Amino acid sequence: MVYISKRSVTLFFIGTKSRIKYAQIKGTCVMSVESKQDFFRLSETDRILEVHWRSGSLKYRDFELMDEGGIAKLYTCFDENLRRRVVYKTLHDHLKNSEIETQRFLREARVTANIAHPNTVPIYELGRDRSGSLFFTMKHVKGRDLRAIIRALRNGDKKTSELFSLSILIDILIQVCHALVYAQQRGVIHRDLKPANILTGEFSETYVIDWGLAKVWGEPELVDLPNSNYQSSSSLTPSGRSYGTPLYTTPELIRGDSMVDGRVDVFCLGSVLFEILTHKQLLQGETIDEIKDELLNRPLPKPSQVTPEKEIPEPLEDICCHSLAIEPRDRFDSVQALSSALQAYQASTK
Ligand SMILES: Nc1ncnc2c1ncn2[C@@H]1O[C@H](COP(=O)(O)OP(=O)(O)O)[C@@H](O)[C@H]1O
Ligand SMILES: [Mg+2]
Repeated sequence: MVYISKRSVTLFFIGTKSRIKYAQIKGTCVMSVESKQDFFRLSETDRILEVHWRSGSLKYRDFELMDEGGIAKLYTCFDENLRRRVVYKTLHDHLKNSEIETQRFLREARVTANIAHPNTVPIYELGRDRSGSLFFTMKHVKGRDLRAIIRALRNGDKKTSELFSLSILIDILIQVCHALVYAQQRGVIHRDLKPANILTGEFSETYVIDWGLAKVWGEPELVDLPNSNYQSSSSLTPSGRSYGTPLYTTPELIRGDSMVDGRVDVFCLGSVLFEILTHKQLLQGETIDEIKDELLNRPLPKPSQVTPEKEIPEPLEDICCHSLAIEPRDRFDSVQALSSALQAYQASTK
C-alpha cells in the first residue's frame, strides 16, 4: 500500500517498511495499489510500434473537449505512440483565418516551448491537422486552475479549504513567481496573468499557462493588442475575439502605455494575491469605462477593507498593496523582489 500524507510518503512493502520524506509534496492525497486504474502496464510499454506508425495529428484519438476559451478549444486526447493522454489546443473555427490570432497562437506555442521550466507546461508538438488547422499539444496537468480553487474556497468547500491553506496558496504564488522570473530573464513578460492561467497539479506542482499575449523584448508587438482596443473603444469583442471583461488588466495596459516592463507582471501578481487573501476579484466593473475608473480614478481597496471578517496577515496585505501601486515606479521593482518578500514571509511563519 502507498499512503501519501500531507508532508510525507510512506511505502509499505511485504515484510519491510520504508519511509521516504518528500517535503515538497504539499497536497494531501491517498492512493493505494488496490486502486490500479491509474497504473501503467507493461502491455503498454512493450506494444509494437507499427512500421506504418502514425505521426503528426494522426496519432491522437479519443478526443474529449476540456475547455473552450475566448480564442481556443482545448481537448484531452490519447497519443497512440507514447500511450498517454495529452492536452491538444486549437483555434476556434471562426478564428482560423485570422492572421493576428494565428500569430498569437504560434507565439504562445513557441514562447512556452522556449521557456521550459518546472513551472511552465511542457509543449510536446506544434503542427497542422489534416485540414490544415494549427494545433499544439502539451502535458495534461491533472489538477485545477487557481480560479476554480478560489471559487471553491469562496463557496466554503471543505475539502478545498483543507487542501489549500493560505500557506499552500502562497507557496503556489511563489512558484508562479519562479516561472515569471525565469521568463523575464529570457526577455518574456506574460502580461495576462490571472487565476485561470495558473494550474496546480495533484501534488501542488504549479504551471503558468497561456503565454499568447506575452511581450518579447526587442521584438515588434503584434498589432491589435487588447490595450489599444481598450483605448479607442469600449467594445469588449474586437476583431472577432472574445476577451471578456478585462478584469485582470493593469493601469499600463488600460492607459495604452507604449512602454511596459516586468512590473506589469508585478501588478498582475498583486491582483492574484488579492484574490487569494479575500477570495474576491480586485476589479468589479462590468464595462471597460467602469474598470478604467476603478483603476485610474479611485484608490484600489485593501484586502482587509474588502473582507474585514478575515484575518489577513499584515505582511501579506503590505506585499499585496505594494504590488498593486498604480504607478509602476511605486511597486516592487521586479517579480524577483516580490518573490523574495513572499519567501521571507513564509520563512517567518515556519
Ligand atoms: N495543459 C493543461 N492541462 C490541464 N488543463 C489545462 C491545460 N491547459 C489549459 N488548461 C485548462 O484550460 C483553461 C483554458 O486554457 P488556456 O490555455 O488558458 O486557454 P485560453 O487561451 O482560451 O484562455 C485553463 O484555464 C485551464 O483550466
Ligand atoms: Mg487562459
